[in-house]
Amino acid sequence: MRQPLVVGNWKMNGSLKQTSELLGSIDDNISDKMACEVGVCVPFVYLAAAVQAKTKLAIGAQTVSEYEAGAYTGEVSAMMLADVGCQWVLVGHSERRVLFGEQDQPLLAKTLAAQQAGLVPIYCVGESEVQYKAGDTFKVIKQQVNSLLADSAVDLSRLVLAYEPVWAIGTGLTATPDEAQKVHAFIRQLVAASSVSLAAKLRILYGGSVKADNAALLFAQKDIDGGLIGGASLDAEAFISICQRA
Ligand code: 13P
Repeated sequence: MRQPLVVGNWKMNGSLKQTSELLGSIDDNISDKMACEVGVCVPFVYLAAAVQAKTKLAIGAQTVSEYEAGAYTGEVSAMMLADVGCQWVLVGHSERRVLFGEQDQPLLAKTLAAQQAGLVPIYCVGESEVQYKAGDTFKVIKQQVNSLLADSAVDLSRLVLAYEPVWAIGTGLTATPDEAQKVHAFIRQLVAASSVSLAAKLRILYGGSVKADNAALLFAQKDIDGGLIGGASLDAEAFISICQRA
């Protein structure tokens, strides 16, 4: 009953030319009949071009300002993203948390700003390598997910969660399907404490070194509803085959 979703996160990669070529190649190889929904999160400056390419892919941004408008040099508001035709936005990707110091409270504000503008936030959580090795995965995930659930203004029916163990991002390491499934089930359980029916409908994506050869087993897990794909989303062939696995 949950439609699988595969979202590419291009991070800070590409050019105008590559945006058009990559989107074109992906679009040529996905069909409306595919079981899974497909999106890509491209750098801000290429969003308008990506939307104007009029492909079957939903276009998303990689972050958003928590503020509505005004004197916030360099920021991009949720209204602006919606204005250029964006549908999704990543919130709280670990690279934003670790490299740019984004913390739970502003991430909540970003989530609300995105929803108010009609965007669907993809809210990312995940433990670091140190936390993983210390056996703190569930503790960290609980704290991150609960900080989102604590605000009743968050509309869980218009949100996607993504579990990305930080130690698996760009490293070639992945959580085993069983390990990932356990965390996904745990996340769903945390959401069920707010609403059982919304928890059952909520899509939870796995991210962290997902490739064509490990995607099928990960996506076969009961609580894994698709993937958030970094490196492999920059290669049309690899990305399409991951979409086919979903
Ligand atoms: P990789 O697929 O390159 O590990 O990146 C995952 C990611 O960060 C997606 O948001």
